[in-house]
Amino acid sequence: MVAIGGTFLFTYCSSSKKAAGSKQTISYAQHIQPIVSVQCSPCHFPSRDGKKASLETYDDVSMQINDIIRRIELYPGTKGYMPMKKARLSDSTIALFKTWKDEGMGK
Ligand code: HEC
Repeated sequence: MVAIGGTFLFTYCSSSKKAAGSKQTISYAQHIQPIVSVQCSPCHFPSRDGKKASLETYDDVSMQINDIIRRIELYPGTKGYMPMKKARLSDSTIALFKTWKDEGMGK
């Protein structure tokens, strides 16, 4: 009986979470794309004459997410630091990328 009760409770909790829409808090379209479009442009935007690996689409960004997080966590002056030639992203902005990844990179 305890196991059944536990299962019921779990089901109830996860469905009420979905109903509240709190499954994913960060989305590519709402949060990630606007940051990348400003901070990683024009270098990573082929349509703006950027010559570096494209970060222009969801697929581009999601496939390189580990390298992106690694680089934005570095500090200016360190090899591999991004965004090159620009100020370091704020800690809360860096956290957005990590949360987005942890949540499964919603579109
Ligand atoms: C001023 C131009 C410039 C900006 C702005 C810039 N990058 Fe880059 N990026 C480069 C250059 C040049 C390289 C290649 C040198 C290297 O690997 O460090 C590079 C390399 C990379 C790579 C490795 C893949 C590749 O293209 O070789 C990643 C991932 C990356 N950048 C992420 C970012 C992210 C994320 C941002 C925005 C937060 C950003 N970059 C902003 C110029 C830029």
